[in-house]
Amino acid sequence: LDRINVAIDGPAGAGKSTVARMVAQKLSYIYVDTGAMYRAVTWYLIRKGIKPEDHDNVLQTVRNMVIELIPGQEVQRVLINGEDATPHIRSLQVSGLVSQYAGIESIRTRLSHLQREMALVKGVVMDGRDIGTTVLPDAEVKIFMTASVEERALRRYKELKDKEQVSLEQLENDIAQRDHLDQNRKISPLRRAEDSILLDTTSMDIAQVVETIVSHCRSYV
Ligand code: C5P
Repeated sequence: LDRINVAIDGPAGAGKSTVARMVAQKLSYIYVDTGAMYRAVTWYLIRKGIKPEDHDNVLQTVRNMVIELIPGQEVQRVLINGEDATPHIRSLQVSGLVSQYAGIESIRTRLSHLQREMALVKGVVMDGRDIGTTVLPDAEVKIFMTASVEERALRRYKELKDKEQVSLEQLENDIAQRDHLDQNRKISPLRRAEDSILLDTTSMDIAQVVETIVSHCRSYV
């Protein structure tokens, strides 16, 4: 069978990464979490004390950065200049700032280029915000996954509550703010590709979402 590329986009907390990972597993494809790449770059720049508005410094640092992505069954690791960013990228600090860094052109250009390279081999399930519209406009299957803000905050809350002190209300606010920034930035804003399949997962469980996407993929090939 011919291998295809699958693009999964949608707002924060829609469950894209869990679903994309499982779809990749079922199809024996490679899963690429592009949000983890933006998060890793954000973590690195925060630690270096480089603010998002300091464009020259961001540009210099990003230009010289070695970014490695190591796919895995459970977690995909991201190394920046040889350092493993993976344990740090889900922190509230990174989550709170990532959308600001993700709006910077030099960062987007660099990461989209890497993402396209990874998809050349085909057989990739890639999740993000701009995969179907900008990174892989020719992906054979494009999914746009959504869920209500309340449901997305609840899902994140269940994920985080044992690790960080956080309230549901705070998560709702964070998610709404991230949606706003992601949808309104100038370069590659989050929007649904016209030829994508819209999947509202508010009242679907993970298995149903995975099954729906896999069947779209199977009917394609
Ligand atoms: O998917 P995740 O929530 O981990 O993504 C974190 C942030 O990275 C998003 O809120 C968005 O600002 C940015 N992002 C992006 N383009 C992508 C993937 C993520 O701008 N393709």
